[in-house]
Amino acid sequence: MIPPLVVGNWKMHGTQSQCRDLARRVARGLKRKGRQIDVALAPPNTALEIVKKVIEGSQIRLAAQDAHWEDQGAFTGEVSAMMLKDSGCEFVILGHSERRHILNESDLVVAKKVQAALRNGLRAILCVGETLAERQAGRTQSVVTRQLRIALKGLGKSAIDNVEFAYEPVWAIGTGLNATSEQIARVHGRIRQFLKASFGNRKGNAARILYGGSVKPENAAEILRTPGVNGLLVGGASLRAETFLAIVNCSALPG
Ligand code: 13P
Repeated sequence: MIPPLVVGNWKMHGTQSQCRDLARRVARGLKRKGRQIDVALAPPNTALEIVKKVIEGSQIRLAAQDAHWEDQGAFTGEVSAMMLKDSGCEFVILGHSERRHILNESDLVVAKKVQAALRNGLRAILCVGETLAERQAGRTQSVVTRQLRIALKGLGKSAIDNVEFAYEPVWAIGTGLNATSEQIARVHGRIRQFLKASFGNRKGNAARILYGGSVKPENAAEILRTPGVNGLLVGGASLRAETFLAIVNCSALPG
């Protein structure tokens, strides 16, 4: 059985010293051995180096929150997947809804970023999810399918070995309103069906599909029990070690 993956997405929060302290607290709290869980922290780029030092030798992996699609070039302000790999990242979050909706990232841009991540040996955490208007219009499944289809177009069959998927309904992010188990199960089922049809049953069944959107210690266990959920992508609750650790601890499978 694949271990669940829990990722803390710190978004644009934290000075270097705040990020170091938070990473230290998380690393200390995770020392229990023999539990099956993968944990990654995604600090802002300015704190990657400092967090990398803190988590060295622990079971925590380093993740970035985004990457440019080119390896280098005249793209002021951008950071490439190649640079993130060089900085010690193993994962990169791509297609997050805040980038799609606030920074107008298109499906095609997300696709180029997925290719850049894989080309540079990073594991992509590909986010998909519908807005409230899309859900109310009954378009959830078609929006998620379109986002997946474009992001994964042209990838070889083995490419999804290096992709984690995250269903993050836009209306559930930072709102305190998480999707219900039934809503999550339906969308995760659709994502898996799509992956099986595109990459074969074995690879589709092995893919990890995370849920994100107002995950807290109070709802994490129930969400993780939902069929088809293989981990969590945590925003606000990952900014405090106690709440993030509580979520991680209820996600771990017994060793
Ligand atoms: P919240 O957990 O704050 O709702 O954020 C979810 C998210 O966007 C994680 O990537």
